[in-house]
Amino acid sequence: MNVPSHIAIIMDGNGRWARRRALPRIMGHKAGIDSVKNIVKACIKFKIEHLTLYAFSTENWLRSRKEVKGLFRLLGSFLDNEIRLFHDNGVRLRIIGDRGRLDAMIRQKIEDTEKETAGYETLNLNIALSYGSRQEILNAVRQLSREVKKGRIRPDEIDEKIFAEYLYTKGSPDPDLLIRTSGEMRVSNFLLWQISYSEIYVTSKFWPDFREPDLKKAIEEYGKRERRFGG
Ligand code: FPP
Repeated sequence: MNVPSHIAIIMDGNGRWARRRALPRIMGHKAGIDSVKNIVKACIKFKIEHLTLYAFSTENWLRSRKEVKGLFRLLGSFLDNEIRLFHDNGVRLRIIGDRGRLDAMIRQKIEDTEKETAGYETLNLNIALSYGSRQEILNAVRQLSREVKKGRIRPDEIDEKIFAEYLYTKGSPDPDLLIRTSGEMRVSNFLLWQISYSEIYVTSKFWPDFREPDLKKAIEEYGKRERRFGG
């Protein structure tokens, strides 16, 4: 079967999952972490090479201080608790997004985990944190403009390949499959450049309910699609 090499996921619906159970929102995010662990393990099992998860968007900074703090605390514990899983299974972690806005302690933890796992290549796990695709593209344009100004590159030399090297996802292939949970038909400022030819799969399940069998179903659906890349 045709298995995607890179899966990107917009993990949506934690809040609604919690509301249905009359629980605080943070409990939805906590259950969402269990799905993250389950899906990371499933990707290792299904031999997926790249997994990119949308954990926190630039727009998410507008949420209550309490929720933002809670989310970053959960992320910190995830990194502490799963480092063994990363070592045992050859998972390389990379955080994509605007690190400048992250608190110094979490930034340090991220850098340490990235360094520790840099040599692994079974699964490349990218977590988008304080990520916004338009900001990523603007950032690339600014960097390239500086290179042009310094005379290091000519404007007509800039092609898709060179441009992609200035994005946070530098070095990763484009996602083959984009999954969104909780039924919304939006891309929400996620990987706008990179998903140009991705297949899209939307499920009505909330993220905390999305587990290995659901991923398998998405991969099977992807296997049936015929990709033409506009040709
Ligand atoms: C969307 O649900 C989810 C988020 C904004 C956060 C996703 C974060 C996690 C699953 C935990 C941290 C992740 C990692 C990778 C360790 P929502 O709150 O927008 O739900 P709603 O639309 O139902 O309110």
